Amino acid sequence: MVRVGIIGGSGLYELLENPRIVRLDTPFGHCDVQLGELAGEEVAFIPRHGTSHRLPPYKVNYKANLYALNMLEVERIIATNAVGSINPALEPGTIVIPHDFIDMTKCRDVTFYDGETTIKVRGREVSGVVHVSMTPYTYCPEIRASIIEAAEHMGLGVRDGGVYVCTEGNRFETPAEIRAFSILGGDIVGMTGCPEASLARELAICYASISVVTNYAAGVSGAVKLTQGEVIEIFSRKIQDISRLIEETIRRIPKRRECPCKDALSEYLK
Ligand code: HPA
Repeated sequence: MVRVGIIGGSGLYELLENPRIVRLDTPFGHCDVQLGELAGEEVAFIPRHGTSHRLPPYKVNYKANLYALNMLEVERIIATNAVGSINPALEPGTIVIPHDFIDMTKCRDVTFYDGETTIKVRGREVSGVVHVSMTPYTYCPEIRASIIEAAEHMGLGVRDGGVYVCTEGNRFETPAEIRAFSILGGDIVGMTGCPEASLARELAICYASISVVTNYAAGVSGAVKLTQGEVIEIFSRKIQDISRLIEETIRRIPKRRECPCKDALSEYLK
């Protein structure tokens, strides 16, 4: 059993020293997972876009990635996401630990429970129509608290809370879209947080995100062109902080789960 899994976003393609790569065949396609040591324990790492950033957000096989971690019996997932800031108070370089999301994606495969496939979660079968709850916590409160505690220990400023808006991409947003998301209550915008977070919930795996603001979203700081180069550059300046934050977080995540995430499927388990 591997307790903790990390899903690395744009800019985070390596995290573990001397990882061994294990190919896992899931009912949704295969997934290459890196296994190695971090913070004194074996952890699993998946670079979301592939090791050389080949996969655009809409092509990421979220279900295979999450199911592969489920096959390893991962209980806790820490994800990293590059984001634009809708809220002008969040300047590029800010690290946000979102507490909620708005899913604005349009054509993604959003559920394991299609009424046909039988899913195995920690040795027990789940099938049929399953509606997991995203309340009382959209993101795992225990992982979020551990990230915030770790950041405090490091003297690293992070923003506790924010609403993550996930767009389909593949283009960046228009200024009108960003204005609309702002009115809806969004703070940050990215293309990869959904359906990843809810797929984790569908497997009763705890999940939280470390979101790194790489740019002001479209129209927030005037009419400037957005580029992926800028996203990668700002993220790469933060890479050491993020890697250490992940390590310090792993040390602090309680070994025993007391959060509601673990009970997400309790009414459906056979
Ligand atoms: N929009 C969507 N996704 C992003 C952005 C953005 O401005 N920046 C980094 N990922």
